[in-house]
Amino acid sequence: QELIHGRLAGYKFIVVANREPYVHRFVEDRIVHSKPASGMATALDPIMLASGGVWVGHGSGDADHAVVDEHDCIAVPPEDPKYKLRRVWLTKEDEQGFYLGFSNECLWPMSHITFTRPRFDAKDWETYRRVNELFANAVLDEAGDDPTLVFIQDYHFCLLPRLLKNSGRKNLVVAQFWHIPWPNPEVFRVCPWKEEILDGLLGNDLLGFHLRYDCRNFLEAVDRFAESRIDYERSDVVRGGATTKVSAFPISIDFEETNRLATSPQVEQAMETWKRQLQLGDRILGAGIERLDYTKGIVERLRGLDSFLSTHLDYVGKLQFVQIAVPSRSHLADYRRIEDEVDRVTDEINWKWRNGRWKPITLIKEHHDPIRMVALHRLAKFFVVSSLHDGMNLVAKEFVASRTDEQGVLILSRFTGAVRELEDALPINPFGAHEIGDAIAAAVVMSPEEQKRRMTRMREVVARNNVYRWGGKILSTLLQFELPENPANTE
Ligand code: F6P
Repeated sequence: QELIHGRLAGYKFIVVANREPYVHRFVEDRIVHSKPASGMATALDPIMLASGGVWVGHGSGDADHAVVDEHDCIAVPPEDPKYKLRRVWLTKEDEQGFYLGFSNECLWPMSHITFTRPRFDAKDWETYRRVNELFANAVLDEAGDDPTLVFIQDYHFCLLPRLLKNSGRKNLVVAQFWHIPWPNPEVFRVCPWKEEILDGLLGNDLLGFHLRYDCRNFLEAVDRFAESRIDYERSDVVRGGATTKVSAFPISIDFEETNRLATSPQVEQAMETWKRQLQLGDRILGAGIERLDYTKGIVERLRGLDSFLSTHLDYVGKLQFVQIAVPSRSHLADYRRIEDEVDRVTDEINWKWRNGRWKPITLIKEHHDPIRMVALHRLAKFFVVSSLHDGMNLVAKEFVASRTDEQGVLILSRFTGAVRELEDALPINPFGAHEIGDAIAAAVVMSPEEQKRRMTRMREVVARNNVYRWGGKILSTLLQFELPENPANTE
Protein backbone atom coordinates (compact mmCIF):
# COMPACT_ATOMS: atom_id res chain seq x y z
CA GLN A 1 0.00 0.00 0.00
CA GLU A 2 2.82 2.39 0.84
CA LEU A 3 4.33 1.61 -2.53
CA ILE A 4 1.25 2.98 -4.19
CA HIS A 5 1.26 6.09 -2.02
CA GLY A 6 4.88 6.76 -2.88
CA ARG A 7 4.56 6.18 -6.59
CA LEU A 8 1.68 8.58 -6.93
CA ALA A 9 3.66 11.45 -5.45
CA GLY A 10 2.88 14.67 -7.26
CA TYR A 11 0.26 13.25 -9.59
CA LYS A 12 -3.48 13.50 -9.40
CA PHE A 13 -4.85 9.98 -9.74
CA ILE A 14 -8.03 9.32 -11.74
CA VAL A 15 -9.48 5.88 -12.33
CA VAL A 16 -12.09 5.55 -15.09
CA ALA A 17 -14.41 2.55 -15.18
CA ASN A 18 -17.92 2.06 -16.43
CA ARG A 19 -18.91 0.14 -13.30
CA GLU A 20 -18.93 2.21 -10.10
CA PRO A 21 -17.56 0.73 -6.87
CA TYR A 22 -20.52 1.80 -4.69
CA VAL A 23 -24.12 1.84 -5.88
CA HIS A 24 -26.94 3.64 -4.07
CA ARG A 25 -30.47 2.26 -4.21
CA PHE A 26 -33.85 3.04 -2.67
CA VAL A 27 -35.20 0.31 -0.43
CA GLU A 28 -38.68 1.54 0.38
CA ASP A 29 -37.99 5.08 1.68
CA ARG A 30 -34.41 4.42 2.76
CA ILE A 31 -31.22 4.78 0.68
CA VAL A 32 -28.77 1.90 0.99
CA HIS A 33 -25.47 1.35 -0.76
CA SER A 34 -23.85 -1.88 -1.92
CA LYS A 35 -20.88 -3.13 -3.91
CA PRO A 36 -21.54 -4.55 -7.38
CA ALA A 37 -20.72 -8.12 -8.53
CA SER A 38 -17.68 -7.03 -10.49
CA GLY A 39 -14.20 -8.51 -10.37
CA MET A 40 -12.82 -5.26 -11.70
CA ALA A 41 -14.48 -3.11 -9.02
CA THR A 42 -13.48 -5.56 -6.27
CA ALA A 43 -9.87 -5.39 -7.40
CA LEU A 44 -9.67 -1.62 -7.89
CA ASP A 45 -11.48 -0.49 -4.74
CA PRO A 46 -8.65 -1.48 -2.33
CA ILE A 47 -6.16 0.34 -4.55
CA MET A 48 -8.26 3.48 -4.40
CA LEU A 49 -8.73 3.13 -0.64
CA ALA A 50 -4.95 3.09 -0.32
CA SER A 51 -4.11 5.80 -2.83
CA GLY A 52 -7.03 8.23 -2.72
CA GLY A 53 -8.01 10.06 -5.90
CA VAL A 54 -11.09 10.16 -8.11
CA TRP A 55 -13.06 7.28 -9.65
CA VAL A 56 -15.10 8.37 -12.68
CA GLY A 57 -17.87 5.85 -13.31
CA HIS A 58 -21.38 5.46 -14.63
CA GLY A 59 -24.05 6.28 -12.04
CA SER A 60 -26.21 3.18 -12.17
CA GLY A 61 -28.28 2.99 -8.96
CA ASP A 62 -31.77 4.48 -8.71
CA ALA A 63 -30.67 6.57 -5.69
CA ASP A 64 -27.28 7.59 -7.12
CA HIS A 65 -28.61 11.03 -8.11
CA ALA A 66 -29.99 11.62 -4.65
CA VAL A 67 -26.66 11.45 -2.81
CA VAL A 68 -24.19 13.39 -5.01
CA ASP A 69 -23.12 17.03 -4.65
CA GLU A 70 -23.50 19.70 -7.35
CA HIS A 71 -20.46 18.29 -9.21
CA ASP A 72 -22.04 14.79 -9.32
CA CYS A 73 -19.54 13.60 -6.70
CA ILE A 74 -19.73 11.67 -3.45
CA ALA A 75 -16.96 10.64 -1.05
CA VAL A 76 -16.69 6.86 -0.65
CA PRO A 77 -16.90 4.44 1.06
CA PRO A 78 -19.86 6.33 2.53
CA GLU A 79 -19.15 5.08 6.08
CA ASP A 80 -15.43 6.02 6.02
CA PRO A 81 -14.58 8.18 2.98
CA LYS A 82 -11.17 7.66 1.37
CA TYR A 83 -11.67 8.78 -2.22
CA LYS A 84 -14.02 10.65 -4.53
CA LEU A 85 -16.54 8.99 -6.83
CA ARG A 86 -17.69 11.12 -9.75
CA ARG A 87 -20.76 9.81 -11.48
CA VAL A 88 -21.38 10.21 -15.19
CA TRP A 89 -25.05 10.00 -16.16
CA LEU A 90 -26.09 7.99 -19.18
CA THR A 91 -29.51 7.99 -20.80
CA LYS A 92 -31.31 4.71 -21.42
CA GLU A 93 -30.32 5.01 -25.10
CA ASP A 94 -26.67 5.56 -24.10
CA GLU A 95 -26.73 2.46 -21.92
CA GLN A 96 -28.33 0.47 -24.68
CA GLY A 97 -25.81 1.42 -27.37
CA PHE A 98 -22.66 1.87 -25.29
CA TYR A 99 -22.91 -0.73 -22.52
CA LEU A 100 -25.33 -3.41 -23.68
CA GLY A 101 -24.75 -2.92 -27.39
CA PHE A 102 -21.19 -2.21 -28.46
CA SER A 103 -19.39 -3.23 -25.24
CA ASN A 104 -21.31 -6.40 -24.48
CA GLU A 105 -22.77 -7.59 -27.77
CA CYS A 106 -19.70 -6.79 -29.86
CA LEU A 107 -16.46 -6.48 -27.85
CA TRP A 108 -17.33 -9.03 -25.13
CA PRO A 109 -18.21 -12.00 -27.40
CA MET A 110 -15.44 -11.02 -29.83
CA SER A 111 -12.83 -11.21 -27.06
CA HIS A 112 -13.95 -14.50 -25.50
CA ILE A 113 -13.77 -17.80 -27.34
CA THR A 114 -17.23 -19.15 -26.54
CA PHE A 115 -18.53 -19.30 -30.11
CA THR A 116 -21.07 -16.56 -29.44
CA ARG A 117 -21.32 -14.38 -32.50
CA PRO A 118 -20.53 -10.67 -31.97
CA ARG A 119 -23.08 -8.17 -33.26
CA PHE A 120 -21.74 -5.20 -35.23
CA ASP A 121 -24.21 -2.35 -35.17
CA ALA A 122 -23.29 1.07 -36.58
CA LYS A 123 -25.72 2.90 -34.28
CA ASP A 124 -24.22 1.20 -31.20
CA TRP A 125 -20.75 2.17 -32.41
CA GLU A 126 -21.83 5.83 -32.70
CA THR A 127 -23.25 5.76 -29.16
CA TYR A 128 -20.08 4.08 -27.91
CA ARG A 129 -18.01 6.87 -29.46
CA ARG A 130 -20.25 9.57 -27.95
CA VAL A 131 -20.18 8.03 -24.46
CA ASN A 132 -16.37 7.77 -24.62
CA GLU A 133 -16.41 11.55 -25.31
CA LEU A 134 -18.69 12.09 -22.34
CA PHE A 135 -16.21 10.31 -20.07
CA ALA A 136 -13.29 12.21 -21.64
CA ASN A 137 -14.98 15.50 -20.70
CA ALA A 138 -15.50 14.33 -17.11
CA VAL A 139 -11.85 13.21 -16.82
CA LEU A 140 -10.50 16.48 -18.28
CA ASP A 141 -12.70 18.44 -15.93
CA GLU A 142 -11.37 16.49 -12.92
CA ALA A 143 -7.76 16.75 -14.10
CA GLY A 144 -7.83 20.52 -14.65
CA ASP A 145 -4.29 21.73 -15.41
CA ASP A 146 -2.61 19.43 -12.90
CA PRO A 147 -0.22 16.64 -13.86
CA THR A 148 -2.54 13.67 -13.78
CA LEU A 149 -2.31 9.96 -14.05
CA VAL A 150 -5.42 8.51 -15.68
CA PHE A 151 -5.94 4.79 -15.21
CA ILE A 152 -8.69 3.49 -17.51
CA GLN A 153 -10.40 0.14 -16.95
CA ASP A 154 -11.60 -2.26 -19.59
CA TYR A 155 -13.14 -2.58 -23.00
CA HIS A 156 -15.82 0.06 -22.53
CA PHE A 157 -13.25 2.76 -23.27
CA CYS A 158 -11.25 1.88 -26.38
CA LEU A 159 -11.49 5.44 -27.66
CA LEU A 160 -10.90 7.33 -24.43
CA PRO A 161 -7.05 7.27 -24.41
CA ARG A 162 -6.82 8.90 -27.85
CA LEU A 163 -9.49 11.47 -26.93
CA LEU A 164 -7.48 12.44 -23.85
CA LYS A 165 -4.20 12.66 -25.74
CA ASN A 166 -5.83 14.74 -28.49
CA SER A 167 -7.19 17.19 -25.93
CA GLY A 168 -3.94 19.15 -26.04
CA ARG A 169 -3.20 18.64 -22.31
CA LYS A 170 0.48 17.78 -22.20
CA ASN A 171 0.63 16.63 -18.60
CA LEU A 172 -1.65 13.61 -18.77
CA VAL A 173 -0.17 10.17 -18.39
CA VAL A 174 -2.66 7.58 -19.62
CA ALA A 175 -2.70 3.88 -18.82
CA GLN A 176 -5.38 1.29 -19.48
CA PHE A 177 -5.96 -2.21 -18.25
CA TRP A 178 -7.94 -4.62 -20.44
CA HIS A 179 -9.66 -6.99 -17.99
CA ILE A 180 -10.76 -9.59 -20.55
CA PRO A 181 -8.81 -11.63 -23.14
CA TRP A 182 -7.68 -9.98 -26.37
CA PRO A 183 -8.86 -11.91 -29.47
CA ASN A 184 -6.48 -13.43 -31.98
CA PRO A 185 -6.07 -11.41 -35.22
CA GLU A 186 -8.25 -13.80 -37.26
CA VAL A 187 -11.18 -13.04 -34.98
CA PHE A 188 -10.38 -9.35 -34.59
CA ARG A 189 -10.20 -8.76 -38.34
CA VAL A 190 -13.97 -9.18 -38.72
CA CYS A 191 -14.62 -6.05 -36.64
CA PRO A 192 -15.64 -3.20 -38.96
CA TRP A 193 -14.08 -0.60 -36.61
CA LYS A 194 -10.82 -2.38 -35.87
CA GLU A 195 -8.60 0.49 -37.07
CA GLU A 196 -10.44 3.03 -34.88
CA ILE A 197 -10.27 0.71 -31.87
CA LEU A 198 -6.52 0.19 -32.27
CA ASP A 199 -5.90 3.88 -32.83
CA GLY A 200 -7.87 4.70 -29.67
CA LEU A 201 -5.96 2.19 -27.54
CA LEU A 202 -2.63 3.36 -28.92
CA GLY A 203 -3.34 6.72 -27.28
CA ASN A 204 -2.24 5.03 -24.03
CA ASP A 205 1.27 5.38 -22.64
CA LEU A 206 0.83 1.94 -21.14
CA LEU A 207 -1.63 -0.79 -22.07
CA GLY A 208 -1.92 -3.77 -19.74
CA PHE A 209 -3.34 -7.26 -20.25
CA HIS A 210 -3.49 -10.25 -17.90
CA LEU A 211 -1.26 -12.53 -19.97
CA ARG A 212 1.64 -12.31 -22.40
CA TYR A 213 -0.58 -14.32 -24.75
CA ASP A 214 -3.04 -11.39 -24.87
CA CYS A 215 -0.16 -8.92 -25.43
CA ARG A 216 1.05 -10.99 -28.38
CA ASN A 217 -2.43 -11.14 -29.88
CA PHE A 218 -2.72 -7.37 -29.51
CA LEU A 219 0.67 -6.68 -31.09
CA GLU A 220 -0.21 -8.96 -34.00
CA ALA A 221 -3.47 -7.08 -34.51
CA VAL A 222 -1.52 -3.80 -34.52
CA ASP A 223 0.97 -5.27 -36.97
CA ARG A 224 -1.79 -6.19 -39.39
CA PHE A 225 -4.26 -3.36 -39.03
CA ALA A 226 -2.53 -0.18 -37.77
CA GLU A 227 0.23 1.93 -39.29
CA SER A 228 2.95 1.84 -36.68
CA ARG A 229 6.39 0.53 -35.71
CA ILE A 230 6.48 -2.41 -33.32
CA ASP A 231 9.45 -3.36 -31.19
CA TYR A 232 8.62 -6.92 -30.13
CA GLU A 233 11.66 -7.11 -27.88
CA ARG A 234 10.66 -4.08 -25.83
CA SER A 235 6.98 -4.87 -26.37
CA ASP A 236 6.08 -1.37 -27.48
CA VAL A 237 4.41 0.35 -30.41
CA VAL A 238 5.34 3.71 -31.91
CA ARG A 239 2.55 5.47 -33.75
CA GLY A 240 2.55 9.15 -34.74
CA GLY A 241 5.73 9.74 -32.71
CA ALA A 242 4.23 8.48 -29.44
CA THR A 243 5.01 5.18 -27.76
CA THR A 244 2.62 2.72 -26.14
CA LYS A 245 4.14 0.08 -23.91
CA VAL A 246 2.21 -3.21 -23.95
CA SER A 247 2.76 -5.44 -20.91
CA ALA A 248 1.23 -8.30 -18.94
CA PHE A 249 0.08 -7.67 -15.36
CA PRO A 250 -1.95 -10.59 -13.95
CA ILE A 251 -4.56 -9.02 -11.67
CA SER A 252 -5.31 -10.26 -8.17
CA ILE A 253 -7.24 -9.61 -4.97
CA ASP A 254 -6.67 -8.11 -1.53
CA PHE A 255 -5.40 -11.33 0.08
CA GLU A 256 -5.02 -9.92 3.61
CA GLU A 257 -8.52 -8.46 3.66
CA THR A 258 -10.08 -11.75 2.52
CA ASN A 259 -8.06 -13.57 5.21
CA ARG A 260 -9.27 -11.14 7.83
CA LEU A 261 -12.86 -11.60 6.73
CA ALA A 262 -12.54 -15.40 6.57
CA THR A 263 -11.66 -15.59 10.26
CA SER A 264 -14.21 -13.02 11.45
CA PRO A 265 -17.14 -13.93 13.73
CA GLN A 266 -19.54 -12.66 11.01
CA VAL A 267 -18.29 -15.31 8.61
CA GLU A 268 -18.52 -18.00 11.30
CA GLN A 269 -22.12 -16.94 11.83
CA ALA A 270 -22.84 -16.90 8.09
CA MET A 271 -21.45 -20.45 7.83
CA GLU A 272 -23.99 -21.60 10.39
CA THR A 273 -26.76 -19.82 8.51
CA TRP A 274 -25.75 -21.55 5.24
CA LYS A 275 -25.67 -24.95 6.94
CA ARG A 276 -29.15 -24.38 8.32
CA GLN A 277 -30.57 -23.03 5.07
CA LEU A 278 -29.10 -25.84 3.01
CA GLN A 279 -29.92 -28.47 5.64
CA LEU A 280 -26.41 -29.63 4.93
CA GLY A 281 -26.01 -32.17 7.72
CA ASP A 282 -22.92 -34.27 7.01
CA ARG A 283 -23.20 -33.99 3.22
CA ILE A 284 -20.22 -32.92 1.12
CA LEU A 285 -20.62 -29.39 -0.22
CA GLY A 286 -19.47 -28.24 -3.66
CA ALA A 287 -19.92 -24.64 -4.84
CA GLY A 288 -19.61 -22.21 -7.74
CA ILE A 289 -20.11 -18.44 -7.66
CA GLU A 290 -20.24 -16.04 -10.59
CA ARG A 291 -22.25 -13.66 -12.71
CA LEU A 292 -24.79 -15.44 -14.88
CA ASP A 293 -22.70 -15.15 -18.03
CA TYR A 294 -22.29 -17.52 -20.98
CA THR A 295 -18.50 -17.31 -20.65
CA LYS A 296 -18.57 -18.93 -17.20
CA GLY A 297 -19.45 -22.48 -18.27
CA ILE A 298 -22.22 -22.94 -15.68
CA VAL A 299 -24.21 -25.41 -17.79
CA GLU A 300 -21.03 -27.39 -18.50
CA ARG A 301 -20.35 -27.57 -14.76
CA LEU A 302 -23.84 -28.86 -13.99
CA ARG A 303 -23.40 -31.48 -16.71
CA GLY A 304 -20.08 -32.36 -15.07
CA LEU A 305 -21.86 -32.91 -11.76
CA ASP A 306 -24.38 -35.12 -13.54
CA SER A 307 -21.52 -37.10 -15.08
CA PHE A 308 -19.98 -37.54 -11.62
CA LEU A 309 -23.23 -38.82 -10.09
CA SER A 310 -23.74 -41.21 -13.03
CA THR A 311 -20.38 -42.84 -12.40
CA HIS A 312 -20.42 -42.63 -8.57
CA LEU A 313 -23.88 -43.74 -7.51
CA ASP A 314 -22.74 -44.15 -3.90
CA TYR A 315 -22.61 -40.32 -3.68
CA VAL A 316 -26.29 -39.88 -4.54
CA GLY A 317 -27.85 -38.18 -1.54
CA LYS A 318 -24.45 -37.48 0.01
CA LEU A 319 -23.34 -34.42 -1.93
CA GLN A 320 -24.84 -31.02 -2.46
CA PHE A 321 -23.80 -28.42 -5.02
CA VAL A 322 -24.64 -24.74 -4.51
CA GLN A 323 -24.50 -22.58 -7.60
CA ILE A 324 -24.71 -18.83 -7.06
CA ALA A 325 -25.42 -17.15 -10.39
CA VAL A 326 -25.75 -13.40 -10.10
CA PRO A 327 -28.06 -12.00 -12.82
CA SER A 328 -26.08 -9.86 -15.25
CA ARG A 329 -26.74 -7.91 -18.49
CA SER A 330 -30.16 -9.53 -18.50
CA HIS A 331 -31.59 -7.18 -21.13
CA LEU A 332 -29.49 -8.99 -23.74
CA ALA A 333 -30.91 -12.01 -25.59
CA ASP A 334 -27.75 -14.13 -25.15
CA TYR A 335 -27.92 -13.62 -21.37
CA ARG A 336 -31.63 -14.45 -21.19
CA ARG A 337 -30.91 -17.57 -23.19
CA ILE A 338 -28.15 -18.72 -20.84
CA GLU A 339 -30.36 -18.06 -17.81
CA ASP A 340 -33.13 -20.20 -19.32
CA GLU A 341 -30.63 -22.94 -20.08
CA VAL A 342 -29.17 -22.90 -16.55
CA ASP A 343 -32.73 -23.13 -15.14
CA ARG A 344 -33.68 -25.93 -17.50
CA VAL A 345 -30.53 -28.02 -16.93
CA THR A 346 -30.74 -27.55 -13.13
CA ASP A 347 -34.32 -28.73 -13.20
CA GLU A 348 -33.50 -31.68 -15.46
CA ILE A 349 -30.59 -32.89 -13.28
CA ASN A 350 -32.48 -32.35 -10.02
CA TRP A 351 -35.45 -34.28 -11.37
CA LYS A 352 -33.21 -37.12 -12.53
CA TRP A 353 -31.49 -37.58 -9.16
CA ARG A 354 -34.07 -36.29 -6.67
CA ASN A 355 -34.51 -38.62 -3.75
CA GLY A 356 -37.02 -37.72 -1.05
CA ARG A 357 -36.17 -34.21 0.13
CA TRP A 358 -32.68 -34.32 -1.33
CA LYS A 359 -31.71 -32.84 -4.71
CA PRO A 360 -28.12 -32.35 -5.92
CA ILE A 361 -28.23 -28.70 -7.07
CA THR A 362 -29.31 -25.59 -5.20
CA LEU A 363 -29.40 -22.72 -7.69
CA ILE A 364 -29.46 -19.24 -6.15
CA LYS A 365 -29.83 -16.35 -8.56
CA GLU A 366 -28.94 -13.39 -6.40
CA HIS A 367 -25.99 -11.28 -5.35
CA HIS A 368 -24.61 -11.99 -1.86
CA ASP A 369 -22.43 -9.79 0.30
CA PRO A 370 -18.75 -10.77 0.74
CA ILE A 371 -19.47 -12.31 4.17
CA ARG A 372 -21.93 -14.83 2.71
CA MET A 373 -19.58 -15.59 -0.20
CA VAL A 374 -16.54 -16.17 1.98
CA ALA A 375 -18.65 -18.33 4.30
CA LEU A 376 -19.63 -20.49 1.32
CA HIS A 377 -15.99 -20.73 0.23
CA ARG A 378 -15.08 -21.95 3.68
CA LEU A 379 -17.80 -24.59 3.81
CA ALA A 380 -17.11 -26.07 0.39
CA LYS A 381 -15.07 -29.25 0.06
CA PHE A 382 -14.59 -28.37 -3.58
CA PHE A 383 -15.10 -25.21 -5.62
CA VAL A 384 -15.61 -25.23 -9.38
CA VAL A 385 -14.51 -22.51 -11.81
CA SER A 386 -15.34 -23.84 -15.26
CA SER A 387 -15.15 -20.72 -17.45
CA LEU A 388 -15.08 -21.43 -21.17
CA HIS A 389 -12.72 -18.45 -21.45
CA ASP A 390 -11.80 -15.91 -18.78
CA GLY A 391 -9.18 -13.16 -18.67
CA MET A 392 -8.18 -14.01 -15.08
CA ASN A 393 -11.08 -15.13 -12.81
CA LEU A 394 -10.71 -13.56 -9.39
CA VAL A 395 -13.30 -15.83 -7.78
CA ALA A 396 -10.75 -18.65 -7.93
CA LYS A 397 -8.26 -16.49 -6.03
CA GLU A 398 -10.95 -15.44 -3.52
CA PHE A 399 -11.68 -19.11 -2.76
CA VAL A 400 -7.99 -19.73 -2.08
CA ALA A 401 -7.64 -16.61 0.09
CA SER A 402 -10.72 -17.62 2.12
CA ARG A 403 -9.25 -21.01 3.03
CA THR A 404 -7.27 -20.02 6.09
CA ASP A 405 -7.78 -23.66 7.20
CA GLU A 406 -5.69 -24.78 4.18
CA GLN A 407 -8.39 -27.23 3.14
CA GLY A 408 -10.68 -27.43 0.11
CA VAL A 409 -10.05 -28.30 -3.54
CA LEU A 410 -10.13 -25.86 -6.43
CA ILE A 411 -11.29 -27.27 -9.79
CA LEU A 412 -10.17 -24.74 -12.37
CA SER A 413 -10.69 -24.31 -16.10
CA ARG A 414 -7.60 -24.43 -18.30
CA PHE A 415 -9.05 -21.44 -20.15
CA THR A 416 -8.74 -18.94 -17.31
CA GLY A 417 -5.78 -16.65 -16.71
CA ALA A 418 -5.74 -17.84 -13.07
CA VAL A 419 -4.78 -21.42 -14.02
CA ARG A 420 -1.28 -20.22 -14.98
CA GLU A 421 -0.61 -19.16 -11.39
CA LEU A 422 -2.69 -21.70 -9.45
CA GLU A 423 -0.84 -24.81 -10.52
CA ASP A 424 -2.12 -26.83 -7.57
CA ALA A 425 -5.75 -26.59 -8.64
CA LEU A 426 -7.25 -29.57 -10.49
CA PRO A 427 -7.25 -28.36 -14.12
CA ILE A 428 -10.18 -29.13 -16.40
CA ASN A 429 -11.30 -28.57 -19.96
CA PRO A 430 -14.90 -27.43 -19.31
CA PHE A 431 -15.99 -28.43 -22.80
CA GLY A 432 -15.79 -32.07 -21.67
CA ALA A 433 -18.38 -32.87 -18.95
CA HIS A 434 -16.52 -36.09 -18.10
CA GLU A 435 -13.38 -34.08 -17.21
CA ILE A 436 -15.34 -32.04 -14.70
CA GLY A 437 -16.94 -35.24 -13.37
CA ASP A 438 -13.52 -36.87 -12.97
CA ALA A 439 -12.15 -33.80 -11.16
CA ILE A 440 -15.11 -33.83 -8.74
CA ALA A 441 -14.42 -37.53 -8.15
CA ALA A 442 -10.78 -36.73 -7.33
CA ALA A 443 -11.80 -33.81 -5.08
CA VAL A 444 -14.28 -35.70 -2.90
CA VAL A 445 -11.76 -38.36 -1.93
CA MET A 446 -8.70 -36.12 -1.65
CA SER A 447 -6.99 -36.60 1.70
CA PRO A 448 -6.70 -33.66 4.14
CA GLU A 449 -2.88 -33.86 3.76
CA GLU A 450 -3.07 -33.54 -0.02
CA GLN A 451 -5.57 -30.69 0.23
CA LYS A 452 -3.28 -28.89 2.66
CA ARG A 453 -0.23 -29.39 0.45
CA ARG A 454 -2.00 -27.92 -2.58
CA MET A 455 -3.83 -25.16 -0.75
CA THR A 456 -0.72 -23.95 1.09
CA ARG A 457 1.11 -23.50 -2.19
CA MET A 458 -1.80 -21.72 -3.85
CA ARG A 459 -2.16 -19.43 -0.84
CA GLU A 460 1.50 -18.50 -1.05
CA VAL A 461 1.03 -17.52 -4.69
CA VAL A 462 -2.05 -15.37 -4.07
CA ALA A 463 -0.53 -13.80 -0.94
CA ARG A 464 2.55 -12.79 -2.95
CA ASN A 465 0.85 -11.72 -6.17
CA ASN A 466 -1.82 -9.61 -4.49
CA VAL A 467 -3.70 -6.67 -5.96
CA TYR A 468 -1.34 -4.08 -4.44
CA ARG A 469 1.54 -5.72 -6.23
CA TRP A 470 -0.49 -5.56 -9.45
CA GLY A 471 -1.21 -1.84 -8.97
CA GLY A 472 2.35 -1.12 -7.85
CA LYS A 473 3.82 -2.83 -10.90
CA ILE A 474 1.61 -0.90 -13.31
CA LEU A 475 2.41 2.42 -11.67
CA SER A 476 6.12 1.75 -11.38
CA THR A 477 6.24 0.76 -15.07
CA LEU A 478 4.53 4.03 -15.95
CA LEU A 479 6.84 6.12 -13.85
CA GLN A 480 9.93 4.63 -15.47
CA PHE A 481 9.11 6.46 -18.69
CA GLU A 482 10.73 9.75 -19.51
CA LEU A 483 7.67 11.87 -19.08
CA PRO A 484 8.28 15.60 -19.49
CA GLU A 485 5.72 16.54 -16.87
CA ASN A 486 6.50 13.74 -14.44
CA PRO A 487 6.88 15.58 -11.12
CA ALA A 488 8.96 12.70 -9.76
CA ASN A 489 11.53 13.31 -12.53
CA THR A 490 11.89 17.03 -11.87
CA GLU A 491 12.52 16.77 -8.13
O1 F6P B 1 -14.33 -9.44 -15.59
C1 F6P B 1 -14.51 -8.63 -16.69
C2 F6P B 1 -15.54 -7.58 -16.42
O2 F6P B 1 -15.76 -6.81 -17.54
C3 F6P B 1 -15.15 -6.66 -15.36
O3 F6P B 1 -14.23 -5.76 -15.76
C4 F6P B 1 -16.50 -6.18 -15.03
O4 F6P B 1 -16.54 -5.40 -13.92
C5 F6P B 1 -17.22 -7.49 -14.89
O5 F6P B 1 -16.77 -8.16 -16.01
C6 F6P B 1 -18.70 -7.35 -14.71
O6 F6P B 1 -19.32 -6.78 -15.81
P1 F6P B 1 -20.38 -5.63 -15.71
O7 F6P B 1 -19.69 -4.42 -15.23
O8 F6P B 1 -20.88 -5.52 -17.13
O9 F6P B 1 -21.46 -6.08 -14.77
